[in-house]
Amino acid sequence: MKPIQTILCIGAGYVGGPTMVVMADRCPEYRFLLTDINADRLRAWQSGDPPIYEPGLKELLARILNRNLFFTSDADAAIEEADLIFVSVNTPTKTFGQGAGLAADLQYWEKTARQIKSRAHQPKIVVEKSTVPVRTAEAMERILNAGGGPRIEVLSNPEFLAEGTAIRDLLEPDRVLIGGPNTPAGRTAIEALVSLYAHWVPREKILTMDVWSSELAKLAANAFLAQRISSINALTGLCEMTGADITRVALAVGMDRRIGPRFLEAGVGFGGSCFQKDVLNLVYLCESQGLPDAARYWRQVVEMNLEQRRRFVRQMVSRLFNTLVDKRIAVFGFAFKPDTGDTRESPAISICRQLVEERARVVVTDPRALPNAQRDLADLGSAVTFDPDPYHAAEGAHAVALLTAWEEYRQLDYRRIFQNMVQPASLFDGRNALDHQQLFEIGFNVYPTGKPPLIHD
Ligand code: UDX
Ligand code: ADP
Repeated sequence: MKPIQTILCIGAGYVGGPTMVVMADRCPEYRFLLTDINADRLRAWQSGDPPIYEPGLKELLARILNRNLFFTSDADAAIEEADLIFVSVNTPTKTFGQGAGLAADLQYWEKTARQIKSRAHQPKIVVEKSTVPVRTAEAMERILNAGGGPRIEVLSNPEFLAEGTAIRDLLEPDRVLIGGPNTPAGRTAIEALVSLYAHWVPREKILTMDVWSSELAKLAANAFLAQRISSINALTGLCEMTGADITRVALAVGMDRRIGPRFLEAGVGFGGSCFQKDVLNLVYLCESQGLPDAARYWRQVVEMNLEQRRRFVRQMVSRLFNTLVDKRIAVFGFAFKPDTGDTRESPAISICRQLVEERARVVVTDPRALPNAQRDLADLGSAVTFDPDPYHAAEGAHAVALLTAWEEYRQLDYRRIFQNMVQPASLFDGRNALDHQQLFEIGFNVYPTGKPPLIHD
């Protein structure tokens, strides 16, 4: 294979976009191309105003756009030119047929593999970056090398970045994971990818292993993180019943160095495009390998997460005198976490739907996610309204439900909010983000998660 000069990424979404921007910045001697089937997305990237929000992304993009990073809609030409191709297309959960609701939908993946095959006139390295089920690389390899033609090596290189901190995570990753075949050509391909990352990542943080272990490690890492959140959330009801405080419990548990303090924040649970999808993927793999106990174990992580949303709404109904009919409820935060406009699998989606089922009048506010929120709840019609101004959203409301811990929401004037609400005014803090004592002193009835409520007589 000739030395790598041109690197292409197919799929310019939350993973592909930021990853290429950081690589292009750190590896100025390579030419980077990015393509996507979504023309609007591509245009936004090209204009220097990315279609996704990530702190620091726009500034970094400005440094390298049209220097050594180029966006193109001509995927065929880009494939022909590229020596190394990252595949970063979406792999949502299947909604039909075998494995519906559990397995990954690999249709975009296979289409991409076939497109690469039809345009690969020289040997290339193909790198799977999207999270995929174990053994996807093997399937990809078979499609790409079927019927002869130039040899294509397939590597697994799962991405661990989290949204909202993508640039930092890419610049300073805990580790870079590369899986590849243990053959002379496989080892050469691995070394090519290692040397790309070694431009900015210390060598000891770059792990290489076989493809299947690499694919499974990614699913396992997300399953462990999701499991920590479900574990802490599984204690919140008990705390509320007994008067214990989940924040103190988490502090004490997390100070054990074997456990560690991160990912122990109780609340309405995890959202995002990865956790649920990857845990269900693991469930499907276990089931399909005849391991029903392991499957049940992991499935419970997702079940607990869904129950936490239902419990939040049950608590609202019971605290608001057992009826939400015609009550205005202000939902503070719709993104699945702060610092992103992404709402995929956000707990806010199902919580708003449940509130509407109770016939509440829901008004959603969020600093960045309102366009997505409007799309997610479009079918609910006038039962939900959207307002970028939290003060206005809370006017005339019986309750505020905080679902995303945006920093902005800590800085609000809650006295002003309280004065414009229907009394008694309640605040349900689904992320334990606010100063509960202060809110209580202002006059709110305060319902934190996993802590005793603060209620005025
Ligand atoms: C996650 C993984 O962190 C990342 O490594 C992987 O590549 C993709 O999936 P992401 O979904 O972007 O990243 O966000 P993350 O910060 O992990 O948060 C996921 C969800 O868990 C959010 O809804 C967040 O609010 C929730 N969460 C996180 C908690 O409820 N409690 C916590 O203690 C931490
Ligand atoms: P992720 O969070 O995994 O990055 P996204 O949905 O944000 O997922 O990004 C995936 C991107 O892949 C989308 O922008 C989508 O338009 C693009 N995509 C899907 N299929 C193809 C394809 N066959 N060719 C090019 N781009 C594709």
